[in-house]
Amino acid sequence: MTMHIPEETVDEIRQSNDIVDVVGEYVALKKQGKNFFGLCPFHGEKTPSFSVTQDKQIFHCFGCGKGGNVFTFLMEIEGFSFYQAVQHLADKKGFSLSESLGSQQEQGVSNEEQMNLKAFEWLTKLYHHLLRHTKEGKQAYQYLLERGFSDEIIHTFQLGYSPQSKDLITQFLEKKGYHSQHMVNAGVLTTNDHNQTTDRFRGRVIFPIRNHLGKSVGFGGRTITDQEPKYLNSPESILFQKGKLLFNFDLARSSIRKSGQAILFEGYMDVIAAYQAGIMNGLATLGTSITEAQARLLNRYADTIIVCYDGDEAGINASYKAARLLHHIGSNVKVSAIPEGLDPDSYIAKYGSDRFKHEIIEASYTYISFLMEYFKKDYNLKLEGDRIQYIEKVIDELALINRPMEREYYAKELASEYELSMDTIVYEINNRRKKLGNHQDKQRTTSHTKSKLSFKKQNKLLPAFHNAEKQLLTYMLHDFYIAEKVKESLGASFNIDMHKIIVTHLYAFYEEGHEANISQFIERIDDDKIKNFIIELAMENVHADISDKEIQDYIRIIKAEHGDKAIIRGLQEEQKNAEIQQDFVRAAQIGMEILEIQKKIKNANH
Ligand code: GTP
Ligand code: MN
Repeated sequence: MTMHIPEETVDEIRQSNDIVDVVGEYVALKKQGKNFFGLCPFHGEKTPSFSVTQDKQIFHCFGCGKGGNVFTFLMEIEGFSFYQAVQHLADKKGFSLSESLGSQQEQGVSNEEQMNLKAFEWLTKLYHHLLRHTKEGKQAYQYLLERGFSDEIIHTFQLGYSPQSKDLITQFLEKKGYHSQHMVNAGVLTTNDHNQTTDRFRGRVIFPIRNHLGKSVGFGGRTITDQEPKYLNSPESILFQKGKLLFNFDLARSSIRKSGQAILFEGYMDVIAAYQAGIMNGLATLGTSITEAQARLLNRYADTIIVCYDGDEAGINASYKAARLLHHIGSNVKVSAIPEGLDPDSYIAKYGSDRFKHEIIEASYTYISFLMEYFKKDYNLKLEGDRIQYIEKVIDELALINRPMEREYYAKELASEYELSMDTIVYEINNRRKKLGNHQDKQRTTSHTKSKLSFKKQNKLLPAFHNAEKQLLTYMLHDFYIAEKVKESLGASFNIDMHKIIVTHLYAFYEEGHEANISQFIERIDDDKIKNFIIELAMENVHADISDKEIQDYIRIIKAEHGDKAIIRGLQEEQKNAEIQQDFVRAAQIGMEILEIQKKIKNANH
């Protein structure tokens, strides 16, 4: 299954794609010293332990241990094969790989998925064509214009129309060579009561739903004639998982990265209307409440997530749920309030883009001030009993805030609004925090450092020769000349098997004329365990001016272990012979010698 791509091509593509940019498309990274840090996309976490090192072009998670280069990253996060990862980055930079490699591309995605992707691509084009250029599509086109959408936005989102016909799409797909049962499975077609295959969407405006790579994987269809349901979506499939996808994620991504903000809407229409108004970082779930997977995805990309749901009661309740979930997984959440029960799309239509930007988005509530408003609905604040209960509920929330400044800010607000003394509120908050055992604080400060500490501690507990091997390997990975020196005096005679394997690969790598380049080197390692281990070593800081003496010391320690081991093996052999000859006194003497040497090794190592 391995495909051959010329090594120079792979090198060129690796070099032209900075790992910080590539990872940055999936994780919000912040520079800290020499490294970039962010939330690990491979395991759930609240505090960043995922790091990217630009000069070495590698990533490593101190929490879960995953690591690698740009290609490995894409393979992990996208489920790409090595070839697909290379292809993906080549496409980005406008290299054409596929010319030289022809039809080998897209391996790794199953055949059926590939066919379905193609079908969705065809249909997206067909629906859009029907909307824009046919008589049948005229009414739908008119409908969209009346709702305020420009030709440009209709084009950007490839909005389309599915005519009332029973089998227009069925026939189109048949002509393209698709098996109708496959298309039913893919949710593109459906079957009627008579078990005949028919079109799924009829008389609806079509919203193609793209995955994060910009490929259509499903459709939402809105009626233009008050059919039920108002929206019909494609059914779940491997390609179309509603709990994981977000509408418009692919287009919003770069704007989210630039602004650090993502705006979560309820409807497709809202996302598109906002986009047309110049707000490009909007997304929506696919007609369902936000799932934890979606929340985590957003949290990885955006510093702040603004929940901008409909202004009616259902919308406000949904905002509460979404904001809670996002807050719970560690996002900085804000919540917009839209007056008159309007939704974002109708607010923009009524009041214009500018007011939407300034009076809705920029004026969003912080999470706590939203809660303070939201909780009011359950109480009649004119009644003293209710008022106290309400205040208690707010204080419960304030106690959960970790930043003292923020806590004080809201405590003051609460104090002034309900004419309470700050002392009382602070007392109540601290009481609750004691009960919580400052659980939150601890979680925040330790989880990051803990993993690093245990990494260091492990080193200390290892025998001296083991540490020497690791140190030496680290230097060898960074420096060709050190590797040469070690090769001359030690060869591959490291004591730990994993180290042996690595140096063998490393010598071969240098022999081929490569310079030290960890990101490039790990490509030839197939075993993930070994690869992650190399990255872990590479993350260690090395002194540029390590002395020759230091290297020789390491080599001596490694060799000593060697020698002693060899001696022990010889003695054990002798001991066995003595036993065979029934010379038990001699055997016991040898046994003592072995113990003696083992003790010596142990002492030397501590
Ligand atoms: P317009 O009424 O065209 O402005 O759309 P909207 O986005 O304002 O719709 P609404 O606020 O009613 O719903 C928000 C989102 O929920 C939609 O974009 C759909 O994804 C989803 N939705 C709405 N109605 C239905 C329905 O009947 N079935 C399903 N499956 N989803 C729906
Ligand atoms: Mn609407």
